[in-house]
Amino acid sequence: MKTLVDKIYQNYASAAPSRFRSFWHECLRSRRLARLIFGMKRFPVDTDDSCYFDLTTILLRHELKKLMRRWENPRMLEIGTGSFAILSGCLSKNISTAIDGVDNREERVECAKNFISANSYKVNAVTSNVFSNVPEKTYDIIFWNLSYYEDPGVLDVLFDQASDYLAPNGVLAVGYNGKALPRATVLSHLESTKKVSLDKAIAYFWNMHEILLIQRTSANRKPDLSFQ
Ligand SMILES: C[S@@+](CC[C@H](N)C(=O)[O-])C[C@H]1O[C@@H](n2cnc3c(N)ncnc32)[C@H](O)[C@@H]1O
Repeated sequence: MKTLVDKIYQNYASAAPSRFRSFWHECLRSRRLARLIFGMKRFPVDTDDSCYFDLTTILLRHELKKLMRRWENPRMLEIGTGSFAILSGCLSKNISTAIDGVDNREERVECAKNFISANSYKVNAVTSNVFSNVPEKTYDIIFWNLSYYEDPGVLDVLFDQASDYLAPNGVLAVGYNGKALPRATVLSHLESTKKVSLDKAIAYFWNMHEILLIQRTSANRKPDLSFQ
């Protein structure tokens, strides 16, 4: 199975034209799927060339919904909302408080604001480089579908500052494509800070994406490495 997934990915990532890649991009650009999976109803600007989500978005949605059950009304922050705030928008339907959402690209935040108001999402979107403009409060869940094709140096800022924004039992969830950004790389950045540490790694036999759940460091916590 691993070899098959690897083969599909090689085909997907290669420069040569690929039918699978074209089909997959059509799926990620599909308003029908954005409606079906994330409940997005209105598309206020012309975004025909944009992908509304990726596989990490779908997996994070699933894992975060489970995680949210630990709290009655979790206080949540999304880093990297993208242009549609599709993930926090979808999750905001399950709680009564608004989710804070940031992105470092101002044009994406402006676009996301249109989607937030058109879909009546409970999301407060602001421009911020990781935590630079995040309100001074703590969150039960902080999550980020990482920009996994970019320089992972930003992870040092994320892991170094996360503990200042996490409530005592709060969880930082990061999702990424493990082929583009190997888990060992993420963990090497995580290990450079002693403030937060790995609680659980969720990987899937049928795809290369992963989700890490990270908490404030505690002396007797052992990480759980589960595969689905
Ligand atoms: C993979 S996209 C995720 C989009 C959307 N949340 C989703 O799940 O489909 C990652 C987002 O992180 C944002 N980002 C990258 N570096 C950032 C930083 N330093 N601070 C805040 N956001 C950042 C990018 O602009 C991009 O919108």
